[in-house]
Formats: sequence, structure tokens, C-alpha cells
Amino acid sequence: MTTHIILDTDPGIDDALAILLALASPEIVLDGVIAVHGNVSLEQTTRNALSVLELAKASRVPVFKGCDVPLVKESLLSPETHGASGLGYAQLPEPATKPQVRHGSDYLIEQIMSRPGEVTLVALGPLTNVALAIRKEPRIVQNVREVFIMGGAIQHPGNTTALAEFNTFVDPHAAHVVFHSGMPITLTPLDVTYQCIFTPDDLNRLLKIDTPVTKFIADAARFYMKFHDEYQSIEGCVINDPMTLALTFMPEICDYQNLVVDVDISTGAGLGNTFADFYNYEKKKPNMKVATGVRPRMFMELFLERMEKLARKIT
Ligand code: RIB
Ligand code: CA
Repeated sequence: MTTHIILDTDPGIDDALAILLALASPEIVLDGVIAVHGNVSLEQTTRNALSVLELAKASRVPVFKGCDVPLVKESLLSPETHGASGLGYAQLPEPATKPQVRHGSDYLIEQIMSRPGEVTLVALGPLTNVALAIRKEPRIVQNVREVFIMGGAIQHPGNTTALAEFNTFVDPHAAHVVFHSGMPITLTPLDVTYQCIFTPDDLNRLLKIDTPVTKFIADAARFYMKFHDEYQSIEGCVINDPMTLALTFMPEICDYQNLVVDVDISTGAGLGNTFADFYNYEKKKPNMKVATGVRPRMFMELFLERMEKLARKIT
């Protein structure tokens, strides 16, 4: 049984790898991609989404532009992590395809409402587009099949501030809207993604195949690995987004807990911090399923096998 997915994403190096994994996985039908501000500007994330789809000969997948700034905060980009282009050292040609005319939030609403219970949303960037869609059409909450979100740090340090993960820090107000919407959310926080390191050995395994896809992965990942080494003394890079995507068809990669999760929207040092009430002191109904345990090599083997297959196909 295939899963129809709409990706809301800020490519971004690990977002690009998630797009490739979606295209390499027969379990998934990638219906559309919505670009959002985040790792780089909306213009750049849109261009990168188009370019990565063209690299994988998948220009049939429509790309929509979403929001270019957070709901309330000023924009925050992360060129130090993903490079000025958003794809590290990778150089992809200017895309020949153009984004669709409609706003991404309108596309998301139309798709979910026209196919009740059939559309799975995978959100890999700041949640601005998703929050806007909920405000425009609250009924998407009941009609979306599932929502997989890469974001948050529950019992793990932040990667953008001491407490906050990038996606929830960039737009904490959007995260608050989505977290409290009632959508059927599975959250993939840094607690599990930081256990899934794409290492230089993993990259060397892919480079045994010499094609445009592996060259792209190498050029993008080398920049990402340099960031992780310099900023966090990690040998390799954390590929948060493809791991989140993999859970849509291989949930057994992780263990989960149904938890009451919130995001700090106060203006102090905790802005964007995500936390779970593990003892449910306030006796609330859990608002999401949180990945709290992971089998790292199960995911990495899947990722490497799928990238090898895709690389051999696209020459
Ligand atoms: O904190 C990691 C997340 O923020 C990833 O999705 C990365 O691409 C950035 O969007
Ligand atoms: Ca992302």
C-alpha cells in the first residue's frame, strides 16, 4: 500500500536527501513539494527543491512557494550549516522548471480537503506554511491522514540555542499553532535524529557508484560534515529530514511515546524550546506521538540502500 505524501520543506542539505529518499522509495507517492523559508530564503529553498527534483529526473512533481517569513519573528537563516546556496558545495544547474502559481498553503488545503484521509503531510522545516493552512481551513486537522514533523528537542540540547531546535526556534508561534491543532502528529526530535549520523564511511560506500546523484550527495554532505565537526565535534552529519521521512513507511526504526508536548513562545531564553510533560501533571490528553528511541543502523542501511538504487538508476 503506497502513502501519498506532500513535503513541506526548506532545502537545505538534509531536506534534499529527504526528497531523494522519497523518490527512491516505492512505498511513497510524492504528490507535491511546498517550499518554506528556513535554512535559506524562500527563493533559494524553492530553487533548490526544483533543482533536486530535476537531478532525480522527477520534475513531474509540482513545487509550490509557501511563506517567506515566520508568523511573528524576524527571519533566521542558517548559511553556516547549509551554505549560502542551501546545498553546501553542490552546484546544480539553474532549474528549467518553475514553481506553481498557487500559494503552498492553498495547495495543501485543496489536496487534503479533496482527498479526506488520504494525504500524509511531512513537515521538515519551520511550520509557518502548516500553521497558515490550519488558520485558513481548520478542517484540514480532521481530514489529513497523518502529519510527520521533524523538529524539537525534548530531552536533548538545542542545535540553534541551548534549548531550541532550529525549526521550532525559527517559527515557535507556528509550531505552537500546529502542536495544539489536534492534528495526528508524529514528532521526530533531535533526541533520535542525533543518534543517526551519516559518517564519512557511509559516504565512501555511496561513492563506489560514480553518478550525478552520488556526486551531489558528496558535495552537499561534505559541507554539512564540516559544520558538524566545527560546531559540535561530530564526525559526520545528522540527517534529520530523511530519517523523519523514513518513519512514514518504516515506523519500526523508532520507538514512540504518546506525550503532552508544548513549545515555549515566551520572549526569554527558552523561546522555541520544546518539552514534554512526561508525568502528565496537568492530566491533559497527549497531543502527539514522539519518537523517543531509535535503531540508527536500521535507518542508515535503508537510506544507503535506497540512495545506491537511485544513483544507479539516474546516470
Ligand atoms: O534542526 C534540524 C532541522 O532544521 C532540519 O530540518 C534542518 O533541515 C533544518 O530545517
Ligand atoms: Ca529541514
